[in-house]
Amino acid sequence: MYANAKSATASVTVTVPRLHEMKSRGEKIVSLTAYDASFAAQCDAAGVDVVLVGDSLGMVVQGRTSTLPVSVDDMVYHTAAVARGLTRALLIADLPFMSFRDADTALASSARLMADGGAAMVKLEGADWVLDVIHALARRSVPVCAHLGLTPQSVHKLGGYRVQGKTKVAAEQLLADAKAVEQAGADLLVLECVPAALAKRISAELAIPTIGIGAGVDCDGQVLVIYDMLGITPGKRPRFSKDFLSNQGSVLEAIRAYVKAVRDGQFPAAEHSF
Ligand code: KIV
Repeated sequence: MYANAKSATASVTVTVPRLHEMKSRGEKIVSLTAYDASFAAQCDAAGVDVVLVGDSLGMVVQGRTSTLPVSVDDMVYHTAAVARGLTRALLIADLPFMSFRDADTALASSARLMADGGAAMVKLEGADWVLDVIHALARRSVPVCAHLGLTPQSVHKLGGYRVQGKTKVAAEQLLADAKAVEQAGADLLVLECVPAALAKRISAELAIPTIGIGAGVDCDGQVLVIYDMLGITPGKRPRFSKDFLSNQGSVLEAIRAYVKAVRDGQFPAAEHSF
């Protein structure tokens, strides 16, 4: 039964062990966000490895000013839609604000994202008290993607969407947190808006893959918000993003150009890094 269920795509489906293998082979992991079946299918067709249903949907889909109002119901709705568009890529869903405030709540929220939404992995922001939550999820076979650096759910504590880990003390703390989330059982780590040199050091010192956004070219992979890389997010494009659609004829070609640029180590360039 299990062999049959995967036989059609077994050689191409992206799995958690495959991501680890990609790191050990030095193959870049390409990731994008998606929030519906149509964009998910375009990502899949273009060869994106990991599709993330980010709680960024609160801002780019719902038009809010932060990710804080996003609910587990919102995440399940969008994750299930994205799952219907995918055949190859690994599907990660964000645990939204307060949905992982303790281990029991995190287990219940993750069960919904995986069982109802079809996610293969959940992502959660932070270290410190979050380590116990990561440990509880990992012990129950819930694959976890940690998220450090600029953690948007902490925007009010951070005082804005700013680059993190700039001082020596902050950089050492980030490195310690990265090692701690790996130790707690995380399988993947998103590094958002951290100096490129620090992200390079963290990526070299961890066994699990790092996926950067505004974290320089030396992460094991890259992720962008799909509307940013298509140039349709209202307002000023973030420094770490690039409009891949303007020189291409279609969304599919734009995503293909992004996939190629990440795999070739051409994106991000220094101008997209800190
Ligand atoms: O919510 C999101 O889209 C994210 C990415 C920016 C990594 O967390």
